[in-house]
Amino acid sequence: MTVQTKAKRAINKIGAGKMIDHSDIQSVDIQLAKLRTRFITHQPYRDLQEQFDRLLRRRRAVLSLDTYLEAKGIAVVGASGSGKTTAVNRLISRYSGQTDPQDRNAIAEIVSLQIPSPATLKYVGSSMLHALGYPLQRDKPAAFIWDQVRHLLRERRTLFVHLDEAQDLYSNTSPMARDAVVNTLKSLMNNKDWPVGLILSGMPKVIDMINVDDQLKRRMSIVQLKAVSVSSHSNEIATMLERYCQVAELAIGKDLQNCDFRARLVHAGANEFGLIIETVLAGVEDALLAGHAELGIGHFVTAFQRKSGCIPALNPFLASDYLAIDPRAVMGTVSFNGMLTESGGKHGA
Ligand SMILES: Nc1ncnc2c1ncn2[C@@H]1O[C@H](COP(=O)(O)OP(=O)(O)OP(=O)(O)O)[C@@H](O)[C@H]1O
Ligand SMILES: [Mg+2]
Repeated sequence: MTVQTKAKRAINKIGAGKMIDHSDIQSVDIQLAKLRTRFITHQPYRDLQEQFDRLLRRRRAVLSLDTYLEAKGIAVVGASGSGKTTAVNRLISRYSGQTDPQDRNAIAEIVSLQIPSPATLKYVGSSMLHALGYPLQRDKPAAFIWDQVRHLLRERRTLFVHLDEAQDLYSNTSPMARDAVVNTLKSLMNNKDWPVGLILSGMPKVIDMINVDDQLKRRMSIVQLKAVSVSSHSNEIATMLERYCQVAELAIGKDLQNCDFRARLVHAGANEFGLIIETVLAGVEDALLAGHAELGIGHFVTAFQRKSGCIPALNPFLASDYLAIDPRAVMGTVSFNGMLTESGGKHGA
């Protein structure tokens, strides 16, 4: 059977849904927005929570004795789409104390920001001031900015600073500028007046950054969001699919209840936890918008095609040699013995 016939069959099989009108579309959008806010707990998240709680208890104990001990940090590392930002945001949102500063004098035990570009001392410091509720009105020298940062961290009784996209500290600037920022951030952890723990989330380059710096290595523990494989995560994937379908009130089609589908799903999501969830949600969206009561392979075929713009032969839910497809590529690319070719292009051309 050609891949085009397979595509037609998969799409025909899901059949006609009930007519869906404007108000139905609105309620589907709301249902999807709710589904997207759901958080699926996984082992790296449990590890992160555990390490965070441990550091927090340690810091609180030191504070209760009114003594000094340098703070430590956690690096949350994984490929794009693995779920780093979501995991740390979840951790912060469940924190029982006060987080982002509400007004100028408020306590903010955790502040969160994204590393700006370029990640120079001045830009990082300004972003930190902004996150602490004190945006700079005028241009100031870096030394002034960091004095203010240290002062405000103490004022706000900040225990942790979360820096997302931390790999940009390592790749965005010259080696000299990079060392200046890394050293300044490190100095926040052993600041005698008010030590602050760091949570660095970012791509695997963060590991390189830590590895070349003995002081960082000693102070940071690592939580890794590793690639997902169907052999190690088959049950979790099946459970996750069930949970989403349950909430969306969709039955799970027979063609999704097998290992082959789960392997295709994992590959379509580039083996990353977050991207696999996004792929499931895209399929669910197609089913709901079509007014279907059952989620089938055809929904994943159309959802993947819409997202990547690929031809059927480069759709991992259809192609027999789906492992050769690069699922992250827009328009689809496939590798033949290590050579990449574009969707519809001749391989090796
Ligand atoms: N545990 C989870 N439960 C539900 N959805 C998740 C979970 N983890 C990730 N996601 C979803 O996966 C997608 C990618 O996650 P996220 O943005 O956190 O990845 P990331 O690792 O920060 O990627 P990047 O490096 O590109 O910033 C998001 O749409 C998010 O909602
Ligand atoms: Mg992110």
